[in-house]
Amino acid sequence: MNDAHTFVTGALGCIGAWVTRNLLRKDVPVTVFDLGTDRKRLELILEPDEIARICFIRGDVTDTEAVENALRSCGARRIIHLAALQVPFCRANPPLGASVNVIGTINIFEAAKALGIDHVVYASSAAVYGSGDEYDRDIIENDAPFLPKNLYGVFKLANQGTAQIYHQDYGINSIGLRPYTVYGPGRDQGMTSTPTRAMLAAAAGQPWHISFGGRNGFQFADDVAKTFIQASDLTAWKGAESFNLGGSIAHVSEVVAAIEKAAPEVSGRITFEDAPLALPAGTSDRALADAIGPLPFTPLDEGVAFTIAHFRDALSSGRIDLDAYNA
Ligand SMILES: NC(=O)c1ccc[n+]([C@@H]2O[C@H](COP(=O)([O-])OP(=O)(O)OC[C@H]3O[C@@H](n4cnc5c(N)ncnc54)[C@H](O)[C@@H]3O)[C@@H](O)[C@H]2O)c1
Repeated sequence: MNDAHTFVTGALGCIGAWVTRNLLRKDVPVTVFDLGTDRKRLELILEPDEIARICFIRGDVTDTEAVENALRSCGARRIIHLAALQVPFCRANPPLGASVNVIGTINIFEAAKALGIDHVVYASSAAVYGSGDEYDRDIIENDAPFLPKNLYGVFKLANQGTAQIYHQDYGINSIGLRPYTVYGPGRDQGMTSTPTRAMLAAAAGQPWHISFGGRNGFQFADDVAKTFIQASDLTAWKGAESFNLGGSIAHVSEVVAAIEKAAPEVSGRITFEDAPLALPAGTSDRALADAIGPLPFTPLDEGVAFTIAHFRDALSSGRIDLDAYNA
């Protein structure tokens, strides 16, 4: 038995695939719990022999018993809970969004309680915050007021409250992390996925229109995954806190410039909608670094160059099918 064995929900998604890759590369056993069956993100960033080492359990986080049974049967004592429906899916089906994002998270805490696991790491989101004009600064700190502007943000806020109550009532410690715009190989769905899709288009020499503009927090998927693992490694952590991530705070035009630098052949053909997201320009990770130590950080230019190089490789080796991706 390996004490670090980690139960990762939603690990067929972008961040989960990167968490899985990083854990396996540290020789930590991983159990993937996901309702999906499509392994395309894992296949994009992991080698086949690595995928062969994963224990897959297909299951639904909305099913209380299934979550507890899966956790019990795999024997993992660490939990990184990432399974969720993103903004467009919550908007299209609010009851399902609430079920997966709110009840799903309650089920994770219930399973932890049943099995005596007292440390849970989970994904909240910068979507718990309001629009930029509601704050007195561009880059907001951890204690800025939560003013969500969509149901997804409301559900994530419920997750933070849920974590606090499970700490208060049952002593389960937790760390919630609030990513903003995650980019990198595997980021292909959700409201803020279009910068990464532009990187894929650039790798294929094609034009792309990014669906938003303004200044935003951009976080490289590998850094985000490493931060989740860093939080999960802190098994002596006490309390139920949630934290902002930092990353590169940049205007979308700077992302376009980074893409053009890595793929000069698409210069002038990667455009963006000049409409900012209803969020502050950036979130500060100062409180997180104080709590869990120095954080991984890949500068935007480097993260974009890595992503485009990875996509070029994947396109030429057939690991990614552009038509299926854009379907
Ligand atoms: N990507 C971002 O920029 C970003 C920003 C803020 C917060 N987050 C949060 O981080 C987490 C991971 O994000 P991501 O980009 O990897 O998401 P993703 O959409 O790529 O992956 C989500 C995964 O959850 C799984 N899932 C959905 N419903 C499920 C269910 N009922 N039971 C089990 N699994 C289910 C999906 O199959 C998928 O593999 C999510 O909680 C998300 O809300 C992401």
